[in-house]
Amino acid sequence: MKKHFYLSARKRGLLWAVPITALLLSTAPAAASALECSVTLQTDDALRFAPSYINVPAACKDFTVTLTHTGHLPPLAMSHNWVLTKKSDLDGVARTGMLAGADAHHVDQNDKRVIAHTKLIGAGETTSVTFAVAQLKAGEQYVFLCTFAGHSPIMRGTLSVQ
Ligand code: CO
Repeated sequence: MKKHFYLSARKRGLLWAVPITALLLSTAPAAASALECSVTLQTDDALRFAPSYINVPAACKDFTVTLTHTGHLPPLAMSHNWVLTKKSDLDGVARTGMLAGADAHHVDQNDKRVIAHTKLIGAGETTSVTFAVAQLKAGEQYVFLCTFAGHSPIMRGTLSVQ
């Protein structure tokens, strides 16, 4: 009688195992093929982007970066933007951005080295920019930075296309 009960329990276990395995098999391929063509970056009163690394899937037609500022300091003291350029153009873009001033969102519209950028935002604001992935090259090293006064030496991250 005891042995019979053991076998029954084992059979019940197998009955549970089948649907769970089927569920895992049916969801795994969908998760692996999901294309992430956007990212949200958090920033606050510290000079940082989180995350500080962005991978852009080469299969995306467009890519959207959303920037959220959850700090508390006034905009004159702590505004941020997100500016994308090639690593080799970082210093030049930081310089023209700084000179452009806050009214121009700290981006020089004549600087062709700027690939994409958001507007300048203050605490509590969110902004986003969408750009064509085709203008980026796989293997090229890209950087993003905040060009608000004095932030660019610290407030930056890296972006690549794969
Ligand atoms: Co900033």
